[in-house]
Amino acid sequence: MRVSFVSDRPDSGGVVVLPVFERLETFGGARNTVDALGDRFTQAARAANFTGRKGQGFDIYAPEGLQAARLCFAGCGDPDRFDVEIFAANATKSLLETRDPTLMFHLGGFGQSADSCARAAVGARLAAYRFDTHKTQLESEKRIAIKTIKIACDEPGKAQASYDNFHGPVCDGQIFARDLVNEPPNILFPKAYAERIKTLSSPGLTVEVLGEEKMTYLGMNALLGVGVGSERESQLVVMKWEGGKKDDRPVALIGKGVTFDTGGISLKPGANMWDMKGDMGGSAAVVGAMHALSARKAKANVIGIVGLVENMPDGKAQIPGDIVTSMSGQTIEVQNTDAEGRLVLADALHYAQAEYEPQAMINLATLTGAIIISLGHEYAGVFCNDDNLAKQIELASETSTEKSWRLPLAPEYDKLLDSPNADMKNIGGHAAGSITAAQFLQRFVKDTPWAHIDVAGTAMKNKRHDPRETTFGTGYGVRLLNHWIADNYER
Ligand code: BES
Ligand code: MN
Ligand code: ZN
Repeated sequence: MRVSFVSDRPDSGGVVVLPVFERLETFGGARNTVDALGDRFTQAARAANFTGRKGQGFDIYAPEGLQAARLCFAGCGDPDRFDVEIFAANATKSLLETRDPTLMFHLGGFGQSADSCARAAVGARLAAYRFDTHKTQLESEKRIAIKTIKIACDEPGKAQASYDNFHGPVCDGQIFARDLVNEPPNILFPKAYAERIKTLSSPGLTVEVLGEEKMTYLGMNALLGVGVGSERESQLVVMKWEGGKKDDRPVALIGKGVTFDTGGISLKPGANMWDMKGDMGGSAAVVGAMHALSARKAKANVIGIVGLVENMPDGKAQIPGDIVTSMSGQTIEVQNTDAEGRLVLADALHYAQAEYEPQAMINLATLTGAIIISLGHEYAGVFCNDDNLAKQIELASETSTEKSWRLPLAPEYDKLLDSPNADMKNIGGHAAGSITAAQFLQRFVKDTPWAHIDVAGTAMKNKRHDPRETTFGTGYGVRLLNHWIADNYER
């Protein structure tokens, strides 16, 4: 989808969306269009019972003397409470059936910043996202025809720069992440996933893939154990973006990439098991973020590491009670093969610290069903060993609109992981499932400031109400990670 920002002139071709606030207040190009319509506007508004209240709307088709094919007047209520991104997303959602290739928004004359106008384009793009590559019978009328988004605004040059240099590439990364989560497990298995990551090689982004041989040599038996029941080879993919100063220590982003989680020998029930194609949502956020960082040439050094495995039951599969030695040297009694994400991350976290000595690291994972019990599908759960980092994440969450909420870590929870047979077991029992999972990860973190974000509820959703979320895979995390890096590590 092409996105361009233009000055707020009254008239344009295509489908034109005009915000109208309470008492029929309009601004900028929308004001000019309303003036050009004269009585026609007031009459149509009266006929449609339109007062400008939020959620109301009416259309005028083929307006006489104007270039537009269709004018869509959208009630926006109080201008002080206007959210431009949600506005653009809602308008786009209601116009998806349009056959016109051009969709234009009038956003001038009421104090919308260049940054906000760039976000409007993001709202529109996210709302127009579909995953229909595997639909062969889709009638052409059902395919989205919108090709160009035009935003008419006060500072088009600045808005274009904000979009090209930040919001556009971040949105590309989020859409890339959505595609990864939505792909089925027979198409996106570990090797195929690693291949897809290689296609991201934008200049300056390097991708290194470690196969089972290399991981065996390194002693990553916690990660490898998860994949031994699978016919498909496990992979560890390391992405490196060096946009910062030469001797700045990097930050590390680490993702759980279980391309399918059957539970292994601790097999999951059949109902809804298909959702476990999304058990790589944490890794998708990391890959999408690395794409965004490189595409917008972020001035920071960032390492992205994703552990890609398929968790299957098999004659060779890991057995409950098995004891594995992780790369850190710590031994783990695998009491439940369905608590596999933490095994993958244990080695990925250790490797990140041993190899790159990051100044801070964040891992994302669809780690526990319990986080959905705690926070539903709205907020991701944050666990953090450093109050300053937790604060940074809270702020990045606000600016990115990707909601998160901090939950505790404490020695009392850590104790629940003690095992009579090994250094630890991989489950903590019924209580506080998301916290004991986080405590498990913390055992593989030394003194690096670290956060774990449990995205089981936010990376994949079967029911959605935010107009920007259109498919199972949401791409959650790409925006949050980008703001975190932009606000704290770029200079
Ligand atoms: N991938 C799941 C967590 C999950 C469940 C994500 C539902 C999204 C929706 C994870 O590997 C898992 O199976 N966790 C277990 C842990 C338990 C065995 C301690 C869980 O949450 O039930
Ligand atoms: Mn599992
Ligand atoms: Zn899992």
